[in-house]
Amino acid sequence: MEATATVKEQRATEPAIPGLPPGPRMGRVPQTMIWARHAQWMLEQCRARFGSMFTLKIAYEGTWVVVSDPDDVKQIFTGDPKVFHAGEGNQILKPVLGENSVLILDEKPHMSQRKLLLPPFHGARMQGYEEKMTEIAAREIESWPTGTPYKLRPRMQAMTLEIILETVFGVHAGDERMDALRVALREILDLTTNPMALGPALLVGPDRLRRVPLFRRRIDRVDELIHREIAERQAAGDLEERDDILSMLVAARHEDGSPMSEAEMRDELLTLLVAGHETTATSLSWAMERLVRHPEKLERLREETLAGEEDYLTATIQETLRLRPVIVLVARRLTEPVEIGGYELPAGVTVTPCIHLMHRDPEIYPEPDRFLPERFLDNPPGTYTWIPFGGGVRRCLGASFAQFEMAVVLKELVKRHQIRPARPESERSLRRAITETPRHDAEVVLF
Ligand code: HEM
Repeated sequence: MEATATVKEQRATEPAIPGLPPGPRMGRVPQTMIWARHAQWMLEQCRARFGSMFTLKIAYEGTWVVVSDPDDVKQIFTGDPKVFHAGEGNQILKPVLGENSVLILDEKPHMSQRKLLLPPFHGARMQGYEEKMTEIAAREIESWPTGTPYKLRPRMQAMTLEIILETVFGVHAGDERMDALRVALREILDLTTNPMALGPALLVGPDRLRRVPLFRRRIDRVDELIHREIAERQAAGDLEERDDILSMLVAARHEDGSPMSEAEMRDELLTLLVAGHETTATSLSWAMERLVRHPEKLERLREETLAGEEDYLTATIQETLRLRPVIVLVARRLTEPVEIGGYELPAGVTVTPCIHLMHRDPEIYPEPDRFLPERFLDNPPGTYTWIPFGGGVRRCLGASFAQFEMAVVLKELVKRHQIRPARPESERSLRRAITETPRHDAEVVLF
């Protein structure tokens, strides 16, 4: 591959940008092109060449200093949120998510939204969603065909969307409102996950994207439906009895006692849908893709599930998120100079704790390329060495929700079916917008 030669030709001794860690010396455009298609390969090549800290130049992202040493990552995750800005790097999502989204804010405004969103995602609350999640998973899985190759990823997506619509909005399957929301949201989610659809965002820039007619129409439609749900919930007299997230947001209060505005609620609801739907579906698809390549592990999972045990299930989910993290790195833009890993990094640079490289470090995970749920049975994942959900004050709000949901779906699936791979080789990764997905959509045969 031409790209291989180009990166290998770089000299590790000279920094590409004076004062910053070394990195490929090719220009921003070729780096961006390789990144867009072969992010994981590029990261591995760079680490082999330059070590645990290196510099990349990616279009629209500025200068990235990629970091994968656990001490450096800990320094970043526990650093002052005024210095390490995460929201700045997510501005491209602003036209869809809106200006109040927890994902695109920083500092005080970010903490204020995050605090409002935390209670519904508290680990203990998850039990309350179990029944609905199980019902949706069972119904979906029972509709799948047997004896023929079947792509799991699109169906996992349908299932996680249904689950999130139920738990977030409290609307039910078969309800006309659920159908309308599903269609409108699918169109918006396509805008955020389809690289072709994101093209216009990159061309016109996030601020002007809302003026593009197709985009405007889709956003207007989804806004209309979300505002209808909000208005209906605000008028409901039984908020305390409801356990959906929208009801909790309607009841939530800012520190000064004021309720969330409609715009805030709309932006956070959409944020939860966008952040929580595709990521979970893709992780579930990877779990099955890995399990079918290891029939003995799949069998152990089935046996323990039927016996009502969950340790191996938990370890399987942790190992899937280690070996196949759907997001390869997270970003923090520096607002002032900081010394990390012996480098004095200037303000304006973005440091990116690298999930992919950390999870493939043989010093942390012996035989890092092997799928070994057993490695987590006696050793729980470390806060700064197992980071599929990022970390610190920006750690994924839905981490417990996602792992709980994955457990429910995997249990329902392995209980019902014997599952074999539909293809002889392991599926490689395909990058879709920002997520790493199984190239053939986790194609399996169910029996
Ligand atoms: C396996 C599934 C998931 C993965 C791998 C994942 C991963 C991530 C990552 C890497 C981040 C950035 C963290 C950082 O910058 O340090 C994040 C943020 C976030 N995620 Fe998730 N996520 C998943 C599921 C969910 C779900 C189910 C929800 C909600 C329903 C959700 C809501 C959020 C929110 C709101 C943020 C922004 C937090 C903040 O900026 O304060 N995620 N997620």
